[in-house]
Amino acid sequence: EIPYQTLSNGVHIPQIGLGVFRVNDAQTVIDSIKTAVNTGYRHIDTASFYGNEAAVGDGVRQSGLDRKDLFVTSKVWNNIRGYQATIDQFNTTLAKLKFDYLDLYLIHWPAEGYEENWRAMEDLYRAGKIRAIGVSNFEPQQIEHLMETATIQPMIDQVETHPYLQQTKLREYLSINNILHEAWSPLGGGKNQVLTDPVIADIAFAHQLTAAQVILRWHIQRGTIALPKSTHTTRIAENIHVFDEALTDQEMTKIAGLDTGARVGSDPTDAAFLKRSTTYDNQNHN
Ligand code: A2P
Repeated sequence: EIPYQTLSNGVHIPQIGLGVFRVNDAQTVIDSIKTAVNTGYRHIDTASFYGNEAAVGDGVRQSGLDRKDLFVTSKVWNNIRGYQATIDQFNTTLAKLKFDYLDLYLIHWPAEGYEENWRAMEDLYRAGKIRAIGVSNFEPQQIEHLMETATIQPMIDQVETHPYLQQTKLREYLSINNILHEAWSPLGGGKNQVLTDPVIADIAFAHQLTAAQVILRWHIQRGTIALPKSTHTTRIAENIHVFDEALTDQEMTKIAGLDTGARVGSDPTDAAFLKRSTTYDNQNHN
């Protein structure tokens, strides 16, 4: 059994989920999901922007699990503006997945006009089409702005988080407001050196774990929901075997000391990026 966190509406979310960003080949997506389910995953994180929702749906069906035993997330992309467009993209997402509901739907980035996306998501949630709704890449001020017109508070904020970008201030805000924290690029996305960091390596050696397992264990102990991405069988399996061994307080403190604030992805406070992103309709335009 994978440990879970409980959202503000009582829904349970498994604390490790398989990320599939930049997994473009449909068969690779399907194989990764089958491997993940076989090794114990019950949670998959996709997005319309990733362009692989149809393959994710096929992977889920081929995994042999009941739909209700898997937690599946998707996200509305930044080119979708307004109430009706959001409803339409959600319905397209469901049609691609061939699902009749989604577990979690997120606003992918705080691009201008996100209040209207949220209004549509609230209605989809009330209609029982989505079990939980939330945001991604939102800073506290953007959540505050959303709450001026929202009637339902976001249940999740999914942001870039790894030992070099620990999101300490944001986490404090989320915790006070009963919003759960999800980590994208929990291992640094293959774009920094965190997997070969000497501090992580020492801790890994002491526990006979891999560096990836130490980092994921660190996320778990902070109460974060981590979404590691891999297409390799051994890594997919390795990344979910993080529940037996606990890091000590001293080790957690050592990792806390690694925070430099260095991002590997886009900056949610970069207005030019947010504006540009509304003209992309899938990742190939990135
Ligand atoms: P690959 O997909 O080739 O296995 P993140 O989860 O932070 O987005 O990081 C994903 C990156 O880290 C990918 O490049 C992935 O490569 C790699 N990765 C995922 N799991 C592991 C692991 N257990 N050990 C080493 N590298 C990993």
